[in-house]
Amino acid sequence: MRPVRKAVLPVAGFGTRAMPAAKATPKNLLNVFDRPILAHVVEEGRAAGIEHFIFIVGRGQGPIEDYFDHNVELESQLEAKGKVDILALATADLPQPGQMSFIRQMRANGLGHAVWCARDLIGDEPFAVMLPDMLMDAAPAALKQCIDAYQQVGGNIVAVEPAPPGQAHKYGIVSLGDTAAGFDGRLKTMTGMVEKPPPGTEPSNLFISGRYVLHPEIFALLADHQKGAGGEIQLTDAMLRLMAIQDFHALEYQGTTYDCGDVLGLLRANLAFGLKHAEHGGAVRDLAAGLLKG
Ligand code: G1P
Repeated sequence: MRPVRKAVLPVAGFGTRAMPAAKATPKNLLNVFDRPILAHVVEEGRAAGIEHFIFIVGRGQGPIEDYFDHNVELESQLEAKGKVDILALATADLPQPGQMSFIRQMRANGLGHAVWCARDLIGDEPFAVMLPDMLMDAAPAALKQCIDAYQQVGGNIVAVEPAPPGQAHKYGIVSLGDTAAGFDGRLKTMTGMVEKPPPGTEPSNLFISGRYVLHPEIFALLADHQKGAGGEIQLTDAMLRLMAIQDFHALEYQGTTYDCGDVLGLLRANLAFGLKHAEHGGAVRDLAAGLLKG
């Protein structure tokens, strides 16, 4: 079984659901308690064994590169002043040089197009896709659970979970077949998928929630730039075509997903990550209780 070493993180979206916060700050750099959303997602990738992160970026997203680079002026000032704790925080999320790449998507043509942009850097090996709007709090890490499933059954793996009532039409929805061994019945053969089905036509209530293990044959299918739902090049459509020649399994991963793409989801994530924070959790609880008392 070839290892999954690289992850593609499409981050070029405008963040329309998070306006105006995402107007001048890349939406995935918005904060979830103590660090940007992206830092949490990269940590999940590292916990799953990812060695190289490929960000698909758009115009104005230079701050993402800056976040994962040294800020020499800041670091030398902190060092000179002996502020070692703050220095440790300022450098905590840095990769080793060469472990991150940034590709301009150039046009917002959809998720399938974003993934296709990574084709040369991925080459001929299986890879992960992580949608960073979706923060997944899980142990083992959500992507690790997907890679464990891949190591058991091979082929392509898609993380799924039940859609909130009445919301399935907003997502990619899967149809399922047989249950695979292990994973407490949460790993199933996929028989179909559809991107943003019209309300009432959803084949199930399980939506594609943002972690994938895919094979490089997907790139040839994405290359013809077929447009799907919303006039965009959809990853779901290319996966459906790949399903004709390769196996797909859906994994209901164990953990909690926070959709950080809008204000309420971001607030929920902030509260949850604050409440479980090793150092500040107690203070967050008191703070929230105080606010609720009014
Ligand atoms: C994308 C995918 C969709 C998936 C969703 C999860 O849609 O195309 O299949 O269910 O992410 O957030 P988007 O949110 O970009 O419309």
